[in-house]
Amino acid sequence: MESAAYLPAPCFIDDLTTTGLAVMPGFVEPVLVTALREEVHAGRALAGMRRARIGRGEGRRLVSAVRGDWIRWLDGSTEAQQRFLGQLERIRQEVNAALLLGLFEVEAHFALYPPGAGYQRHVDAFQHDNPRRLSAVLYLNRHWRRSQGGELAVYDAEGRELRRVLPEAGTLVLFLSQTVPHAVLPTRRWRASIAAWFRLREADNPLAGLARLQPDDIASPPVADPRRLRGRD
Ligand code: OGA
Ligand code: MN
Repeated sequence: MESAAYLPAPCFIDDLTTTGLAVMPGFVEPVLVTALREEVHAGRALAGMRRARIGRGEGRRLVSAVRGDWIRWLDGSTEAQQRFLGQLERIRQEVNAALLLGLFEVEAHFALYPPGAGYQRHVDAFQHDNPRRLSAVLYLNRHWRRSQGGELAVYDAEGRELRRVLPEAGTLVLFLSQTVPHAVLPTRRWRASIAAWFRLREADNPLAGLARLQPDDIASPPVADPRRLRGRD
């Protein structure tokens, strides 16, 4: 299934260096994207997902107006997850070799945005102690049209919109976690993705990474309207 065609485009390092952002359509091959999409939708049907929260540690909270997605962390338990995590590992090595970012590990979750949901403009690593340095998002949606909303919008430091990216299956976006403001515009159809973060080693606080496992994360299951479940893409 792997072939040279799906290795990182050689220019992605240049794009990251000059603009802080790299957009790679067709980065993940269709067979793998399909397997990942089926996993995320199966999770939705089984209520295996939970509402995403904002903030870290003590400050974590659920604010639907800010962020409306449901998430499930990848645990490498399926072949599709392992293959995708393998691709992220190659990116980690290439970025470390070229940019000396010292990226140590990656964390990744599936994300499903129901119709009407979005994620307001934010920076992924806003607090100084956040170890995230490079963000990656893989989109899993076939045949996305602009009129369906749900685009990734990227802004400059003054809040001016620079670019929009359609969440189309196979597209991988990389951007610097500390400096690139971005948003998920409100979507009109179910929007599936995997969001991942390459992190520095948290040597001084080995338990910090466990903050996301706090029991208050467990919320009621996602919308289980059978018509919607049948209407998946
Ligand atoms: C995030 C995020 C962007 C996207 O999960 O932090 O900004 O396009 N996702 O899904
Ligand atoms: Mn983000």
